[in-house]
Amino acid sequence: MCGIVGGIAQRNVVPILLEGLRRLEYRGYDSAGLAVINNQQIYRKRELGKVKGLELLLEADPISGVIGIAHTRWATHGKPSTANAHPHISRNKIAVVHNGIIENHEHLREVQQKNGYEFTSETDTEVIVHEINHAMESTDGLLNAVKKALKKLEGAYALGIMSVDEPDTLIACRKGSPLVIGVGFGEYFIASDVAALLPVTQRFIFLEEGDIAKISINELLIYDAQDQLVKRPIKQSQLTADAVDKGEYRHYMLKEIYEQPFAISQTLEGRFVNNRLQENAFGHNAAEVFDNIKAIQILACGTSYHAGLVARYWFEKLAHIPCNIEVASEFRYRNPVLAPDTLIVTISQSGETADTLAALLEAKKLGARYALAICNVPESSLVRESDLVLMTRAGPEIGVASTKAFTTQLTALMLLVIAVGRRFHLTEIAEQKITSELFSLPGKIEQVLQLDDEIRVLAEQFAEKQHALFLGRGTHYPIAMEGALKLKEISYIHAEAYPAGELKHGPLALIDADMPVVTVAPNNSLLEKLKSNIQEVSARGGQLIVFMDETLATVNDENIQIVRVPQVDNETSPIVYTVPLQLLAYHVAVLKGTDVDQPRNLAKSVTVE
Ligand code: AGP
Repeated sequence: MCGIVGGIAQRNVVPILLEGLRRLEYRGYDSAGLAVINNQQIYRKRELGKVKGLELLLEADPISGVIGIAHTRWATHGKPSTANAHPHISRNKIAVVHNGIIENHEHLREVQQKNGYEFTSETDTEVIVHEINHAMESTDGLLNAVKKALKKLEGAYALGIMSVDEPDTLIACRKGSPLVIGVGFGEYFIASDVAALLPVTQRFIFLEEGDIAKISINELLIYDAQDQLVKRPIKQSQLTADAVDKGEYRHYMLKEIYEQPFAISQTLEGRFVNNRLQENAFGHNAAEVFDNIKAIQILACGTSYHAGLVARYWFEKLAHIPCNIEVASEFRYRNPVLAPDTLIVTISQSGETADTLAALLEAKKLGARYALAICNVPESSLVRESDLVLMTRAGPEIGVASTKAFTTQLTALMLLVIAVGRRFHLTEIAEQKITSELFSLPGKIEQVLQLDDEIRVLAEQFAEKQHALFLGRGTHYPIAMEGALKLKEISYIHAEAYPAGELKHGPLALIDADMPVVTVAPNNSLLEKLKSNIQEVSARGGQLIVFMDETLATVNDENIQIVRVPQVDNETSPIVYTVPLQLLAYHVAVLKGTDVDQPRNLAKSVTVE
C-alpha cells in the first residue's frame, strides 16, 4: 500500500513525480503529497484525496526542484488527512516518504518527544524522519545517519529520503516493501513500481531486501543488508509507458475484463511443444521437484485465494494429489503442520502481498523444501523468494478489482495440475483433453464478452439492492465467491457466496424478493443437484439470476431469469463463468456511480499486514 516516487535530475522533477503518483494511485489514494529541495529549503505540498487534488494545488501554487520525493497514501496509522499525508519533515531539514509499517513507532515516539521532537501527524512514519534527524547529530552525513536510524526501526519500509544539508543526495531503502531505481541519462528516479517511471526510463535496478542506496547525479552506491557495497544489475523492462493507459475504455476494469482472451493466450504462449506442456516453463529444475512432491499446500489472499480454491478441486480430482489451501494471513499464525515433501504454491497478482510473502517464509521455516509462485510481476518479492515460478503474463492490472489476473492465474494453475498430475493419476488422454480446452478458452471468453449488453440491463435490478447471494457447486463455488467479492468490492453491495447445497443449513432464511440470488450453472455432473437448490430458493419467493449453459432446456419459472452462457468444456468452465460475474459487478458499480477502479478503503497491492 502507498506509492512512493522520487527523483534527482538536472531538470525540474515535479511533473515527473506527479505523473509517477498518478501511475501509482492504485496503491492508495486517500491523500497525496510532494516535496522538493530548492535553495537549501524544503518546499512541500499535500492534499487530502486523490492525486488530482495535489495537481490542482500545485497548479495554483507551483514549486520546483531538481530533487524531490512524493507519495500517495493508503492510511494505516492515522486517518486520511493533510497532516497525515507524506512527505513528513523533521525540523525543516529532512523529508521522508514511506511505504510499510513501523511496528515500534509508539516507543520511538515517546523517546523522541523526550528529546524535544515535535510531532505534527498521527503516522508511524514521522518517527523515521525524526530518528534520522537525531542520528545526524552524532554521525557524519545523511547516509550514515540513515543507516544508524534504520537499526532502531522494527517493521517494514520502502523509503525515499532527502535533506537540505545534502541537496544533491537522494537515499532509497528497502525492507519488506518494494522499491526500484529507474536509471535515466544523467538522472535517477525511485518508485514502488516500474509503472510509475515508464515515461522517463525503461531501465531499472530492483533493490533487494535490506538494501540502502545513496543516489546522486554522478554516482549510485548500493549497500546490502550486511552493509557491503554491492552492484545490482540494470534490467530492461519490456513494458512501455502506454501499457498502463485506459485506451478507449471508460475504466481500467472494463479494459482488463476485455483483455482476458489475449491475456490467457499469453499465459499459454510458448509453454507447449507439439501440444505437450513443457515443464521447464516452471523453472529449469521443475521436473526434479515435481518428481519428489507428495502433496500441495496453496497460500494466497483475496481473489488469488479464490483461484487456489478452484485449483484444489482440480488437483484432487484430476491429479489425485492431496491439496490444502489456506488464506495466507491465517496460515502464518496458526502453527500449521506440513506433510513431508509438500509443494508450497503461492498465488499473487502483485507478488508483494505481505501476508502471502510472510506465509511463504513461515512454510519454509516449517521445513517446506519446495516453493512455486504463480505471479504476474516478474521482479516481485514473491518470485524472488520462490524456487519455481510460473508467470501469468496478464500484463499490468491497474483496476483494484482483480479480473484478468484471476483468469490467468486459473489458466496457470491448470498447467501446474497437468505437470504434477502426470506423476499421479492424470492420463495422457485426459491431459490432451484439458490442453485442448485451454487453447479454446480465448475464443470462448470472446463469446461470453458478447453478453455484455444483456448483463448491463440485468445490472439495473441490483442498483437499489442492499444484499445479494451467490451460489455455485464444486469448482463453481469459488467462482460464486469471486463474483460476490467483485460485487461488494466495487459496488459496496453486501454479497455473500454459498455452496448451493449449504443453503438449507441456514442462509435460506435470508431469501425474499429483495435478495437477488446469482447462480452459476454450467452443464456438469452437479447440475441436477444445483437445480434442486434453485427450486428451493424459487419456492420461497427468491429472485434468481442463473448463468446457465446455452444447451440446457429453458426453465419456465417467473422467479428465475436465465442468462445463457456459451457451452464450455467441463474442467475449464470456471474460467469462462467468471467473466459474466465480472461484467455484472462492473455494470452495477457504474450504475451506482462508485469509483470503479479505485473503490473506497482499498488498494491494489496490500503490502501491509
Ligand atoms: C481482488 O479484487 C482484490 N483486489 C484482492 O482480493 C487481491 O486479490 C488480494 O489483495 C491479493 O492480491 P495479490 O494477488 O496481489 O496477492
